[in-house]
Amino acid sequence: MSRLLSLLAFSLCLTTELLAGVGERPLSLVPQPNHLDILPGMFTVTDEVQLVVADDQLAGEGEYLKAALAEATGLDFLITKNVSANTSIVLKLDDSLSGDEAYRIRSSEKQYEIIGKNAAGVFYGVQTFLQLFPPLEKGAVNLPLISVDDEPRFEWRGMHMDVCRHFFSVEVVKKLIDEMAKYKLNTFHWHLTDDQGWRIEIKKYPKLTEVGAWRDETVVGHMAEAPHKFDGEKHGGYSTQEQIKDVVAYAAARHITIVPEIEMPGHAQAALAAYPWLGCFNDTLKPWTLWGVSEDVYCAGKESTFKFLEDVLDEVCELFPGEYIHVGGDECPKENWKKCPLCQKRMKEEGCKDEHELQSYVIQRMEHYLEKKGKKIIGWDEILEGGLAENAAVMSWRGEEGGIAAANLGHKVVMTPGNWCYFDHYQSTDPNEETAIGGLTDLEEVYGYDPVPVQLDKENQKLIMGVQANLWTEYIPTAEHLEYMIYPRLCALAEVQWTQPANKNFADFEKRMDDNYIRLAQDGIHLRIPAPEGLSPVEIFSSKEATIKLSCVAESAVMRYTTDGSEPTDFSKVYEGPFTLKLDGDVTLKVTTFLKGGTRSYTITSILKKQALKPVKLKNPKAGLQCSFYDGPFRSFNEVGGDETKTTIVEGLVIPDDMKDSYKGWEFDGYIKLPKDGVYYFLLDSSCGSGMYLGDQLVIDDDGFNYNCMRTGQVELKAGYHPIKLKLFNTIYGQSIKLSYKLPGSDKLIEVPADSFFSK
Ligand code: ACM
Ligand code: ZN
Repeated sequence: MSRLLSLLAFSLCLTTELLAGVGERPLSLVPQPNHLDILPGMFTVTDEVQLVVADDQLAGEGEYLKAALAEATGLDFLITKNVSANTSIVLKLDDSLSGDEAYRIRSSEKQYEIIGKNAAGVFYGVQTFLQLFPPLEKGAVNLPLISVDDEPRFEWRGMHMDVCRHFFSVEVVKKLIDEMAKYKLNTFHWHLTDDQGWRIEIKKYPKLTEVGAWRDETVVGHMAEAPHKFDGEKHGGYSTQEQIKDVVAYAAARHITIVPEIEMPGHAQAALAAYPWLGCFNDTLKPWTLWGVSEDVYCAGKESTFKFLEDVLDEVCELFPGEYIHVGGDECPKENWKKCPLCQKRMKEEGCKDEHELQSYVIQRMEHYLEKKGKKIIGWDEILEGGLAENAAVMSWRGEEGGIAAANLGHKVVMTPGNWCYFDHYQSTDPNEETAIGGLTDLEEVYGYDPVPVQLDKENQKLIMGVQANLWTEYIPTAEHLEYMIYPRLCALAEVQWTQPANKNFADFEKRMDDNYIRLAQDGIHLRIPAPEGLSPVEIFSSKEATIKLSCVAESAVMRYTTDGSEPTDFSKVYEGPFTLKLDGDVTLKVTTFLKGGTRSYTITSILKKQALKPVKLKNPKAGLQCSFYDGPFRSFNEVGGDETKTTIVEGLVIPDDMKDSYKGWEFDGYIKLPKDGVYYFLLDSSCGSGMYLGDQLVIDDDGFNYNCMRTGQVELKAGYHPIKLKLFNTIYGQSIKLSYKLPGSDKLIEVPADSFFSK
């Protein structure tokens, strides 16, 4: 249709089709409200509609709604104080609501009422209301009528961001705060100090930012790479106190509290670079250019360290009006303390039996200081070691154990366990994903998390204040990449935080997300558009025909594909359901997700091969695989070889303890016994670069310096014994390899049982 014709059609159908289509359009509310009814009828939003702000306390919410409506519709709305005969959207307070963040929506064709016990509840009601608008339409619009009674499951609905490993400006922070508000999060955890950079202006100690905010260069690639390479570029930045005050106010207007994190006693190298007397040995240091955990920590023996920390916290407390200050407490190496006479003297004086108790002394002392200033502390779960400060809350990151232990001691807890809540993990196994720190935490995994451990009794379960995701930025150098890692996982997190488990459902969430992908893109967010799923980089078929079955979590998206190696375009074939491809040689299949509104995912590529991998006959197979151990260093699994230093038979795919070391290589040889005919999906997860061959076919290529990166491969195989070879190399991070599979016809991923492996 020409542009003119389509405009004409648009104006003609404005009052009929467009305004009538409400009933068919599913709601796309995220997080899902806890009580929601859809009513018959509709509410027509035109610029005749008045915004009635019934209470002065809601002036901010009124202005916010007016601006958001203008953006959603392109129309201008008038704010009034009193309900008139006009069609209106009414914001008002009602003391009878139960919770501080609870809200209610009541609607009729004349009036949409958004009611809260206080302004926060009204603000959340406004967010729900705004999600009723179709994201791709402008102008007058019909909204469905709904009745909502809603309040959050958790009081702490957090998102964390590390601005130390890479610096991000207050503009980037504000953009995150905008989206957090839309998805009803209420706590922003701002990680402001670390080994690689000090990011908050402290007036009393100007060198913290003059020196500590700038590092000479940054390690390139993954830390697993050896030898390390550096980019040679100065990196840094910090936020001034004026900027911080502005962000704090900006967040407060969106009912978000900012929790600043000032790390102690570890993760302090940037501070020590600024003021060497803060360390045990007054060493001259620079802000760190590597990732990891620096051994240079605050000296816990010197009184001057405590004076410094107190002075810093004095300024921090002035800037951040919230209840909590995060004091870090994680990953504090104790080597310097063991050698430092002042630290040892302090331990004696305070009766600390080990360095963990010295760490506990530091945290407890800071807690008492902050308590006098009316603040509470929260810290990473290491603050449990050596004795937990009296009123400290614990952020459980190394799994849930720390959180469970803290709750059992009567302390408040925020759950942030790595498996579900670390947004620096990969989002899929596809090679298109940029280098990440390691691990896989996809949208469904985030969604499925329940932060209330069943191990806790009912009373202690109440101590779980909530849940947050953490975003560490070692491998995230740009704001675009930052957003890619946050969205859409933040939406899944929002539903974990807000919605009661009984009202959650991933399939339904996937449907509701369709509009939200568009909303995020319209907000200028560089989100990860869900890529097609179901293909591996290599797929091996025994017959001449490959059956291709794809899926995508963006349900209403279109997947388009090519089979000639070209990049899919708007005109490429649409995937309409499983199809077969003839394999006369290798076929390169490329598939891309296209969303309404014009955004698209990265393109996944799969090489489809025709190769009948036949089982072999074994006379007397012996249990176990042959494992050979080689001296490195290696830069690729392909290089693993040379003179083997040891060889042994292992039961299953495991590296024996006496073959574990840094800079080594391993090769596993033998047979895998498969129980039935069909297509097998394999997933290889290793501590560094690895590869898997079946026969002479490379099925999984997970090469490179990476850490806990996973790759998949799919092969059509007959039941029986198949020759298998796995190769792996490492530098200093771990010695692990794990092979999982899905049996033909099954969706369940399981570790390949140890008794499936044999050797001759
Ligand atoms: C952490 O991830 N070191 C808290
Ligand atoms: Zn010391």
